[in-house]
Amino acid sequence: MQKELSKHSDEQVFFTESEISVDDLMQTCSQKTLKEAYPLAESVAENIIIYDAKNITHLVGNSNQEKRLKTELNHILGKGPGVFIIRNLYEDSVIDQSNGIFDKIIKNEATNKNDHFASGSNTRIWNSLQKVAIENSEAFISYYANNILRVVAESWCGPNSQMTAQVNIVKPGSGMQKPHRDYHLGFQENETVQKYPISSHLMSQHLTLQAVIAHSDMPLESGPTLVMPHSQKYELGYLAWRNKEFQSFFSENAVQLPLKKGDGVFCNPALFHAAGSNSTNNFNRIANLLQISSVFGKAMERIDFIKIIKNIYPALLEHQNNNTLSKRLIENVLVCATDGYAFPTNLDYDTSSYSSVHGLSMFEVTQQALQQSLDLENFTSKLYEHQKIKFAS
Ligand SMILES: [Fe+2]
Repeated sequence: MQKELSKHSDEQVFFTESEISVDDLMQTCSQKTLKEAYPLAESVAENIIIYDAKNITHLVGNSNQEKRLKTELNHILGKGPGVFIIRNLYEDSVIDQSNGIFDKIIKNEATNKNDHFASGSNTRIWNSLQKVAIENSEAFISYYANNILRVVAESWCGPNSQMTAQVNIVKPGSGMQKPHRDYHLGFQENETVQKYPISSHLMSQHLTLQAVIAHSDMPLESGPTLVMPHSQKYELGYLAWRNKEFQSFFSENAVQLPLKKGDGVFCNPALFHAAGSNSTNNFNRIANLLQISSVFGKAMERIDFIKIIKNIYPALLEHQNNNTLSKRLIENVLVCATDGYAFPTNLDYDTSSYSSVHGLSMFEVTQQALQQSLDLENFTSKLYEHQKIKFAS
């Protein structure tokens, strides 16, 4: 990581597009991913680490083992190739249930929305997180109760991360995306990027984790995401991905692996990547794209957590009271269905701040309500009281 910067003076803080170097990227990406460095993984293919959910799920719940897994994943995303696949992350039944809800949402919206990075006509569901929660509590609960998803999120973003999700259905004939980096700085023009100090370029990649959950099989001809392993370590990359020379390097060297329905791909948002072209005649490639945001950043989409939690609370209470979901699985859902951070708040009014370092988060208010088995009406009034204090002005 220091290699690229060593060419510049240590005092240099701001960079422009004229300082990018495809040779530096090439050197960074020439690293080989070694399986020995990742003992919990199944294999390495095309420099990408591959896990099988079935062989790591038993680590969840044991704090030492969980830490070991998170450490390994964090290493991949930061210092390693920047990308890994988890096979069998979801059972078919969970994906099928979600796909049924997606169809319903698409019919309701009745508009086709183009993907902003690719040619052709794809179908998008923006904010599929909230829309699924409103449409069907059980589909939301079974999807976001996933133990491994939470561990992966925590490995990069720490606890109480915020989930956002969009569905992308890529139709036959849809073109390849241009290679790019993702949110935050990946969504800014070079003119803006160069105003940020290099420390912010590095910070940007720590604020989000990017994921593709395969909701259909993704054979190579359907265009699963192309990635450039290790490219997240090229420090000037946010200024480089629009450059033609870099784009050619990407098209000659990027790699692609087929996915099965229920697999998940996770990557550092600074990894150079691009969704592939769907060259089939009749096969829709369906992905749920997740951005997992650190609580220290701003998420890409605005989520109405009140709407979500009010809709799914009765089902969660029932699962708790009937013992059909463990405390941990319920917590996994709450992480995605509530705001997990106690800030910002109004410290004049949020008196709970005086008894602890911070006031309660919406996550904690909901957790307490479930512990006390409050009915929806009582929970809702607690929630509104909490919001009123937080947003008092
Ligand atoms: Fe992307």
